[in-house]
Amino acid sequence: MTDFSGITAVVTGGAQGIGRAIADRLAADSADVIVGDLRDPGDLGDRQRWVELDVTSEVSTVAFAAEVDDSLGVVVNNAGIMFEASITDQTVEQWDMAMAVNLRGPWLMTKALLPQLQAGGGGSVVNVGSIEGIGSNPQHTAYAASKGGVHGLTAAMAVDLGPMGIRCNAVAPGWIDTALNREYIDRLPNRDQAVAELAVLHPVGHIGDPADVASTVAFLASTDARFVSGQVVVVDGARTTMLSLPPSLAPKT
Ligand SMILES: NC(=O)c1ccc[n+]([C@@H]2O[C@H](COP(=O)([O-])OP(=O)(O)OC[C@H]3O[C@@H](n4cnc5c(N)ncnc54)[C@H](O)[C@@H]3O)[C@@H](O)[C@H]2O)c1
Repeated sequence: MTDFSGITAVVTGGAQGIGRAIADRLAADSADVIVGDLRDPGDLGDRQRWVELDVTSEVSTVAFAAEVDDSLGVVVNNAGIMFEASITDQTVEQWDMAMAVNLRGPWLMTKALLPQLQAGGGGSVVNVGSIEGIGSNPQHTAYAASKGGVHGLTAAMAVDLGPMGIRCNAVAPGWIDTALNREYIDRLPNRDQAVAELAVLHPVGHIGDPADVASTVAFLASTDARFVSGQVVVVDGARTTMLSLPPSLAPKT
């Protein structure tokens, strides 16, 4: 277990999915967690509270920051959205929205919270990127571009904020078993086949769990990672490490 006693952690998009698991993990490790989300997540349990936030809005991020004191030591920029559309069908509004939430959001939040991070003597920022910041699924132009941007932003922030005692890293999750992803799979007529095919894509034999991302975020946010900054840590069960082979050349098992 990592230990965040006496430290406040902000988790954006923490109402559900991966952000929820990150908030739970940091709270379990004794952080006081502020969940910033568009919507009220309801009962969050001990050590967690919700403050309304729209990461795309400078007004909202500044108002949110006013709720955060100088015990701030961890900022997790997790809020994100995805649109699936061909480049022909995708609208400018969808493109701009993906960039606003996924890329402007982490930049605005970090900018708004810098005074508290500095006042507290530094800290750690962890951005949630994606393996789609490295490659791309079909029809994901805006999503992949925004996540590639998150990885670049992470490097740039590590360089600029390092002298202030602030480390910046990113996690790049692969396929994670969130409620939304599970609903998507469960709606497929060939659901069991899809689950089996997904497992084959991963050398570890299975897809990831939100807790797998959360534990990596906790490590990067902790003092155990005090010399780690500017990195993108891929959390994908080696999916993107395994090179593809045509079926005729694949070794017989
Ligand atoms: N689920 C995956 O398999 C996967 C894989 C790679 C990367 N990711 C990334 O992980 C992050 C979380 O993904 P998820 O699957 O848990 O998503 P999700 O859709 O389940 O949850 C996203 C949360 O962000 C909030 N949010 C959306 N727009 C916001 C805004 N403007 N301001 C504040 N909050 C906002 C939503 O209300 C929601 O609670 C995203 O950045 C996503 O791109 C997810």
